[in-house]
Amino acid sequence: RAQDAVEGSAFSFPEVEAGVDADHHVAQGYDADILLRWGDKVFADAPDFDPKNQSEAAQERQFGYNNDFVGFIPLDGADDRGLLVVNHEYTNEHLMFPGIVTVEDGKIAVAEATEARVDIEMAAHGGTVIEIRKVDGKWQPVLDGALNRRITAKTPMEICGPATGHARMQTAADPTGTRVLGTINNCAGGVTPWGTYIMAEENIHGYFTGALPEGHREAENYKRMGIPEDSYAWGRFHDRFDIGKEPNEPNRFGWIVEVDVMDPTSTPRKRTALGRFKHEGAASALAKDGRVVFYLGDDERFDYVYKFVTAGRYNPDDRAANLDLLDEGTLYVARFDEDGSFVWLPLVHGQGPLTAENGFESQADVLIETRRAADLLGATPMDRPEDIEPNAETGRAYVMLTNNTKREEANAANPRVENAFGHIIEILEDGGDLAATQGTWEILLQCGDPSVAEVGATFSTATTANGWFGMPDNCAIDSDGRLWVSTDGNSPKDTGRTDGLWAVDVEGAARGTSRLFYRVPVGAEMCGPCPTPDLTTFFVAVQHPGDGGEDWEGHGRPSYYEDLSTRWPDFRDDMPVRPAVVAITKQGGGRIG
Ligand code: FEO
Ligand code: CA
Ligand code: CA
Ligand code: CA
Repeated sequence: RAQDAVEGSAFSFPEVEAGVDADHHVAQGYDADILLRWGDKVFADAPDFDPKNQSEAAQERQFGYNNDFVGFIPLDGADDRGLLVVNHEYTNEHLMFPGIVTVEDGKIAVAEATEARVDIEMAAHGGTVIEIRKVDGKWQPVLDGALNRRITAKTPMEICGPATGHARMQTAADPTGTRVLGTINNCAGGVTPWGTYIMAEENIHGYFTGALPEGHREAENYKRMGIPEDSYAWGRFHDRFDIGKEPNEPNRFGWIVEVDVMDPTSTPRKRTALGRFKHEGAASALAKDGRVVFYLGDDERFDYVYKFVTAGRYNPDDRAANLDLLDEGTLYVARFDEDGSFVWLPLVHGQGPLTAENGFESQADVLIETRRAADLLGATPMDRPEDIEPNAETGRAYVMLTNNTKREEANAANPRVENAFGHIIEILEDGGDLAATQGTWEILLQCGDPSVAEVGATFSTATTANGWFGMPDNCAIDSDGRLWVSTDGNSPKDTGRTDGLWAVDVEGAARGTSRLFYRVPVGAEMCGPCPTPDLTTFFVAVQHPGDGGEDWEGHGRPSYYEDLSTRWPDFRDDMPVRPAVVAITKQGGGRIG
């Protein structure tokens, strides 16, 4: 149902009706076209996707699973040609592999993992770099693009910055502590001002198995990160994921990874200066003096909001001069005070409690155990920090706090106990300068259904029944400074709606008004959005569609919406449901919103 124009709103599109079904839905007057699906070719010579005959070799040449972060890097300054960079966060075996789910006596079982299956999963992780081009108003992949690339859980990477070579980073396969294979659980990410692709390693704990040797020095470190969680079978076939066999391997994950997409043979770099935790993403912008500021969320209940400020300045005239900016700078963690101010506390070895007395012998120790260092500094435990997007024009940044049902004590920055729907904090850096070390903050929105008083949602009264949302996760500030929020966790059972992409007014009389622009098929989570600089396209990522529904061979899975399922986006009996990146454009062309 179209929404009447809201006084002062930056948006005028007709709102989508919230709800749930097998398909995706975009605002009237717009097209939502499938651009890339799991299994699609990334190279001209890649094999066609054959879900019943998958292999590691094929998957290494095809688009990976569970697309999360999407970035667009224009080529030669063009509006209609660029590189799409996409994270493949994780794999859902029960949705990927035919016939592995069985039901006996009402109990669901997934068949024992095999090495071949694990290797396909590893190849379906990581990221994709692919050239895309707009032809007659529609985007399409360029399969012979010279810069096309797949990055996987086995791609050789370099360890850079202060933790490089440290004894805690060394393994049998890499006694130098400088080289690691692969990146995993890349949730959101970023694109730097110099056009590199940032992948954030988030829930790395699930990939590790086994037990540390008795009395091992990493015991506390791994406990703080939830390692091992044992969600994947990788450790049964690859010793490095078994901490009994390779106790230091988890220290080589949980970092920010930088990829120079202009050289497809470049070695991706793990930038240890930005700390080790469950990195949600790394959106960046320039400070007033040309240093570069990265906002970093640690997605765990009661964990922290961080930022990193480079020591060097961005040089717009010399791309090569920027390529190692991420190796030197200051990592800060936020303390949100009750009076509406905040302070960025520096995580610098030798300062305050970050000394040998507390087990930090060097900056490498501070970074490897970033969370413990932040604990000691007195940072404010938050309700699961996800994306944080800065707006360099205003010196503000928007912090998505997705939820925290375990919170028992409220504080000003986390004002609700049992916070099921999350909230958004707007911070204002002192002097409007993103490199400031303090500032003020306010709550932009407490999320959830405003018609249920106990929820305590604070959407404006102009927000319709379709316009509210819970569980903010990713977000974008478009080139007009407008905020878009995508969600993770709105379920038919709890909210009668799927996840989607909402447009949120942050300025003037309409501040706090939200409206639904796009929603995903049942079972999916919304990732992205990535608006192109000219605002004529929004790329969005539909992640794990059909999860919790029926697998594609018709076997059931424990589910909160058992009676619903989807074969999006192909709707073919011989095709599984597939995660996909979608390009949204306005019919007839023009600016989105
Ligand atoms: Fe992978 Fe924090 O969401
Ligand atoms: Ca996700
Ligand atoms: Ca996320
Ligand atoms: Ca999330």
